[in-house]
Amino acid sequence: MPETYRPRRSCLAVPGSSPKMIDKARGLAVDQVFLDLEDACAPLEKPGARKNITAAFTEGGWEGKTRVVRVNDLSTQWAYRDVIEVVEGAGADLDCIMLPKVQTAAHVVWLDVLLTQIEAATGLESGRIGIEAQIEDARGLQNVDAIAEASPRLETIIFGPADFMASTNMRGFVVGDQPLGYDIGDAFHYPLARILMAARANGLQAIDGPYVQIRDKAGFRKVAGRSAALGYDGKWVLHPGQVDAANAVFSPRQEDYDHAENILDAYAWSTSEAGGARGAVMLGDEMIDEASRKMALVIAGQGRVAGMTRQDVWQRPEAGA
Ligand code: GLV
Ligand code: MG
Repeated sequence: MPETYRPRRSCLAVPGSSPKMIDKARGLAVDQVFLDLEDACAPLEKPGARKNITAAFTEGGWEGKTRVVRVNDLSTQWAYRDVIEVVEGAGADLDCIMLPKVQTAAHVVWLDVLLTQIEAATGLESGRIGIEAQIEDARGLQNVDAIAEASPRLETIIFGPADFMASTNMRGFVVGDQPLGYDIGDAFHYPLARILMAARANGLQAIDGPYVQIRDKAGFRKVAGRSAALGYDGKWVLHPGQVDAANAVFSPRQEDYDHAENILDAYAWSTSEAGGARGAVMLGDEMIDEASRKMALVIAGQGRVAGMTRQDVWQRPEAGA
């Protein structure tokens, strides 16, 4: 896990046009908040939303949250002004720009260059603002490998199921759930796995998009559980009622966290000179080795950033045991 690892179990979408919803977001226990200039804002609302977002980030109150703004995509007339206005106004107080409907690596490069210019012009630290790229159509998915390596600013690749369903003609309106008539397997497995591989190959996080049936908590848990099982780092939340579920689903279970920390301790001891300098050792009934340590590092890291505490602590064997 990189030192700058930001937890993103829950990524809250907030319309930039609503100061009331922005204010409410400050009090929610989400890992990330993104203030939206794209699909949650009508065209006539966008100029006002830029001002709301700049003010909200400058005023602060976002401690413990990654602060993100989603700008409009490159095919629109709004994209350049979104970036310039928000970064010139609040660049020191935001962490990442989310770019929707990314179709080629050039889209990411455009944003990287623009950010670099704004940073130079305004005296902001060069390269600090990250990029989150949304994959939402066939072209983006086909190019996801090149997109994922397009800029050192990239932190996440995000699957956008609503636009993906629309742009590929999938049947159905329950965003993130199986399309109508698809009664075998998981219609989202391919894009989710494809994005995950591109992200992981480049050391990036993979994030799942929204589940729009906000009252269906069981549905949210089911869909979130699928992407969490694949290895995804988090999921969007659209409503306060989805927050706890996202944080829980994308955190390790207590027993897995304890086990991971115990593997790290036991392995560190066994490979040390005092512990016998052995590379394959038993932990209870389990044989652990360097690969076990790598798996344990991920789970322990996720548990630590989630603030978990150990409830079962491995005891070093007595000398001679
Ligand atoms: C999110 O932007 C989506 O299209 O699902
Ligand atoms: Mg979208």
